[in-house]
Amino acid sequence: MRCAVYPGSFDPVTFGHLDIIQRASKLADRIVIGIAAHSGKTPLFTVAERIDLLNDVLKDTTLPGKCEVVVEGFDTLLIHFMNKHKAQMVVRGVRQYSDFEYEAQMSALNAKLSNRDIETVFLAANPEYQSIASRFIKQVAQLGGDVSPFVPPQIVAALEKKS
Ligand code: PNS
Repeated sequence: MRCAVYPGSFDPVTFGHLDIIQRASKLADRIVIGIAAHSGKTPLFTVAERIDLLNDVLKDTTLPGKCEVVVEGFDTLLIHFMNKHKAQMVVRGVRQYSDFEYEAQMSALNAKLSNRDIETVFLAANPEYQSIASRFIKQVAQLGGDVSPFVPPQIVAALEKKS
């Protein structure tokens, strides 16, 4: 049983995240999408809201792999969340080369903190989604721009409600 944790803020989930989930479904038997309460950022959506939104969006998402996907919030260290799920790998999407520095640092830190073997698998973002970052999407939505090319309709509606 290959279990992967895909951690992140998902504030909110974008087409870029969904693309990574779809592709990771070919690599693991189970993916736990971990919505972090502690990511060093001030979120727009609560963890509970982000869990509901992700579950809602996943209902409309077809996975190419035979894989169970669950969504869960966590307020611990990522490595402790991984232990809880007996996960062997962390999945992270990388958009730009500049993302990689931060990602490699986080991966090395997690490897040092963990008392067992874990691997971080980096998936290169599909070029179509390279410009999508949740922080930009929130700003575009708050300033009245059209975010429908970047996020599913449920998220467009949730962003409208927040602004
Ligand atoms: O989507 P993000 O904000 O880039 O995700 C960052 C995240 C959530 C993966 C990272 O902040 C994290 O793992 N937070 C949990 C707390 C933790 O383990 N911190 C130590 C590693 S940075």
